[in-house]
Amino acid sequence: AAAVQRLFSSPASESELAAGVVDAEGPSALPGFLFLLHHLDAAGVLGRLVMDGARPLASLVPLVEGYRFAPSPAADDRTYRLSRFALLRRQGDDLVLESPLAPALIVIHDPEVASLVHALARPRSLEDLAREVAGVPPDGLCQVLQLLGGAGLAEHGGEEDPATALGQWEFHDLLFHSRSRLGRRRDPYGGTFRFQGVADPLPAVKAPMTTEVTMLSERDPGSPPSSPLGDVLERRRSVRGHALAPLTRAQLGEFLHRAARTRGTIATSHGELASRPYPGGGALYELEIYAAVDRCEGLGRGLYQYLPAEHGLARISDATPAVERLIEDAYLTIDRVSRPQVLLVLAARFQRVSWKYSSMTYALVLKDVGVMMQTMYLVATDMGLAPCALGGGNADLFAAATGLDYLEEGSVGEFALGTPAGEPPG
Ligand SMILES: Cc1cc2nc3c(=O)[nH]c(=O)nc-3n(C[C@H](O)[C@H](O)[C@H](O)COP(=O)(O)O)c2cc1C
Repeated sequence: AAAVQRLFSSPASESELAAGVVDAEGPSALPGFLFLLHHLDAAGVLGRLVMDGARPLASLVPLVEGYRFAPSPAADDRTYRLSRFALLRRQGDDLVLESPLAPALIVIHDPEVASLVHALARPRSLEDLAREVAGVPPDGLCQVLQLLGGAGLAEHGGEEDPATALGQWEFHDLLFHSRSRLGRRRDPYGGTFRFQGVADPLPAVKAPMTTEVTMLSERDPGSPPSSPLGDVLERRRSVRGHALAPLTRAQLGEFLHRAARTRGTIATSHGELASRPYPGGGALYELEIYAAVDRCEGLGRGLYQYLPAEHGLARISDATPAVERLIEDAYLTIDRVSRPQVLLVLAARFQRVSWKYSSMTYALVLKDVGVMMQTMYLVATDMGLAPCALGGGNADLFAAATGLDYLEEGSVGEFALGTPAGEPPG
């Protein structure tokens, strides 16, 4: 018991601990102690520290229960290289190296180990490393390489096979996937109300950005009667070709009212929640809509903020060069079929979500974007309009066009809307 207790306060080697057990309780206590140590290790609660005498070099911290440290031994004929998924960052006062490939991270205690990491940007043999990182003795070098291997940070130096599953992952995608899903981490996850008592949650309804506000109608008298849901689902297509006769302001009004208005808000002890026609994570409704209007009868060209509670538009600007580029980029994204009559940019007020949720804010926002897009598709189809979701957009350009802070409210989705060229689908 004393030996295990010692591990709570300071690191110790297995032989030091075993010697302590033999001294205190006699050799017969040793098998039981080693059995216990094995189980603690299997439970993923034992870190590993590599020392050079009294000098700590690097340590491995398991991040989940059940993590098994099982590195392959260092070998002279092996070539080492840092994984392209490795990530070096500051955590508190520590320099940590981690990767989405393993549920463990490495704390770099010694600058010479940072040099080792630098050397591993290129394939290196043990001999190369011993020569280039002279500040770490060969024994320590092997042990640190084992730590890196155990945390998924070192790989064989050969070229990665692009036909494998791993070969097709990009660094940022795998990091995002691993950090926004459970597993591989012990980080807080889900609705933890991270900033309760620290900062106020953002209000459910964003204020108009300008005073130039025009109200929209809820229904366009010229719209066809609504069809049964099953028919709308079957008719739904992405329609990229827009007609010469543009969307009307009444059509845009009906579309936004049916797809995206705020039906109401409610004050709770965790801040204001809202209701809209589409479901939204936590009823937070962080998504805002901006309309970059190229051609819409009854609305001047330019950029507008949709006001979902009042059901109006606040005019932000004329068709500035940044607004023109937003529309032009959308035209390129739908394969230059048509310049969208109206480009709807979906932006997220990130702090609505990050105030409440841990580990999943951005993932949740993107899910909400998908839900809103499908709702837009269905409403547009029902109205006989031409809808098309876009797979990407430029968040810096959006910030330039709107003057919004990139970190506070950023564009996260784009949707082209217009009247369909030729016969309406269906
Ligand atoms: C999230 C998402 C992103 C999309 N991105 C694009 C895009 O960038 N350009 C484009 O022309 N179509 C885009 N589309 C439309 C798809 O190409 C289309 O939905 C798919 O080909 C199926 O065809 P359908 O919608 O007509 O049934 C996107 C659709 C979704 C849902």
